[in-house]
Amino acid sequence: MLLSRKKLHGNYNDLIGESTVHLKVLKRIDKFAKSDKVVLISGETGAGKELVARALHAENPYAMHPMVVVNCAGIAEHLIENELFGHERGAFTGADRQHIGLFETASRGTLFLDEIGELPLVLQPKLLRVLQENEIRRVGGTEQIPVSVCVLTATNIDLTEAVEAGRFRRDLYERLKSLHIQLPALRERREDIPALAKHFLAKENNASSRKVADINPEVLSLFDAYSWPGNIRELEGIISRAVLLAEDGEILPHHLPQDVRMLQTDPLPLADATAAANPNAPEYLVLPFPIGTTLKEIEKSAILTTLARENGNQSKTAKSLGIDRRTLHNKLRDYKA
Ligand SMILES: Nc1ncnc2c1ncn2[C@@H]1O[C@H](COP(=O)(O)OP(=O)(O)OP(=O)(O)O)[C@@H](O)[C@H]1O
Ligand SMILES: [Mg+2]
Repeated sequence: MLLSRKKLHGNYNDLIGESTVHLKVLKRIDKFAKSDKVVLISGETGAGKELVARALHAENPYAMHPMVVVNCAGIAEHLIENELFGHERGAFTGADRQHIGLFETASRGTLFLDEIGELPLVLQPKLLRVLQENEIRRVGGTEQIPVSVCVLTATNIDLTEAVEAGRFRRDLYERLKSLHIQLPALRERREDIPALAKHFLAKENNASSRKVADINPEVLSLFDAYSWPGNIRELEGIISRAVLLAEDGEILPHHLPQDVRMLQTDPLPLADATAAANPNAPEYLVLPFPIGTTLKEIEKSAILTTLARENGNQSKTAKSLGIDRRTLHNKLRDYKA
C-alpha cells in the first residue's frame, strides 16, 4: 500500500521527508498518539527522537498541557527518584519542605523520559509500577497519588543489548517496546537529504538574514556518499556553518568540513596519487591518505567509517576498533563539539 501524508490525521510539516521509512514513522506517530500507553522512541543520536516526541505530544489528548522533558542520564543517581516522584517533608535530612515531582508536575500533559536506557537499575521497577498502576508515591510518603500523564521515552542505546548485559530490566523493556517507534538513521533515508538540507538552508537564511540561494549539486552528491554518524543534527550543523562561510551565493564543496569532503576521492586512488608523485618511492611507503593528513583526522575517519559500517552500533564499533565503549563515546562527543 502506498503511504501518503494525506491519509494521516496530524499534519507533520516539521518532520521533513518523503522516504518510505520516514512515512512509516509518521504513520506510527499518528496511530500511537491516540493511545494513552507509554511509547518508546529509539534511534541514533541526532536522528530526531525529541522532534518525534513533540509531534506525538502535539497530537495526543494531553496537548493542551506542556511536555516536561527529563534527561535520565543528566540527573545524579541519588536524585532521580526525588525528581520524578517528589518527597514529603522530613523524608530525609534536609527535606524541610514537601517537593512535588515531575510526574505530578506533568499531570494532564506529557512526560518525556529521554535516555531511558540510563535510568538506574534500582529505579526501573519503580517506574514499571507507576506505568502499570498510574499512581506514584512520594519519597517518604505513604499515600498512593493517582497521576494522569502521557509518558514518552527515548533511547539511543540498544535496549536489547542493555537487557542482555543486565543493565536494563527485561520486564520494563517488554512494557516499553509494545509501542515502539524505531527511527531510521539518516544514511538509511538518503533520498530525504536534499529536502532536509534545503529546509535547514531556509531556516538558517531566516535566522541570520543571509541570502544563500542554493546548494551546489556537487555538495549534494558528497552528502549522498557521507555516512552521517551524527544524523540530522549533523546535517543541520554543517548547513549552518556553510551558510556563514558562503556568505551570499551558494554552498560549495569547500564550505564543508574535511570529513565530508574526504569522501570525494576514494582512499585507494589517493594512495596511487601519492606514489605517482614520487615514482622512486618504494611501494611500502604508500599511504591510503593524502600526505599532510593528521593522525587525528585518520583516527576520526577510521572511527566514523567503522561506525557507519556497523550501522551506528557503538558497541560493535568499539569492539571492532579494539577500544572500550566509553572511549568511543567520548571521541564521538568531541567530534560533535
Ligand atoms: N524529520 C526532520 N525534519 C526536520 N528537522 C528534523 C527532523 N528530524 C530531526 N530534525 C532536527 O534535527 C535536530 C536533531 O533532532 P533531535 O534533537 O530530535 O534528535 P535526537 O534523536 O533527540 O538526538 P539526541 O540523541 O542527540 O538527543 C533537531 O534540530 C531537529 O529539529
Ligand atoms: Mg534528544
